[in-house]
Amino acid sequence: ATERTFSILKPDATKRNITGAVNAVIEKAGLRIVGQRRIQMSKAQAEKFYEIHKERPFFGELVEFMTSGPVVVQVLEGENAIARYREVMGATNPAQAAEGTIRKTFSESVGENTVHGSDSAENAKIEIAQFFQDSDIVG
Ligand code: CMP
Repeated sequence: ATERTFSILKPDATKRNITGAVNAVIEKAGLRIVGQRRIQMSKAQAEKFYEIHKERPFFGELVEFMTSGPVVVQVLEGENAIARYREVMGATNPAQAAEGTIRKTFSESVGENTVHGSDSAENAKIEIAQFFQDSDIVG
């Protein structure tokens, strides 16, 4: 079925000026960017977004990194978009990511791993709603 997923191009992507290169991989994979905005995430926004990880030892570092520079928040649409995008991103740790994936191609470390993608339909809905109004998504 056609689905929507939530994506973030993280600060390591904006810093290195590779957001277009990452978008090219996304589009080549058959996903359509139907919503997109470049923002500076506030500490409060990052803490809310990563709330499920707040007990993890890397939580502070994660919030620090996600607010260290601009990010690009996106809504991606396509056939099985949630699973498809996770395939395209590759494993969380770039050292374990498959050839041709975004993280294998572009990422330096598990923390600075270039992209985020929703892990379920339920979370996609919640995450999209945190950053987008319906009127800013045009399919
Ligand atoms: P993301 O999919 O955005 O959601 C949680 C993030 O936590 C994950 O990407 C990683 O970038 C980050 N993360 C996971 N494990 C570690 C770790 N060991 N150290 C730092 N960051 C991590």
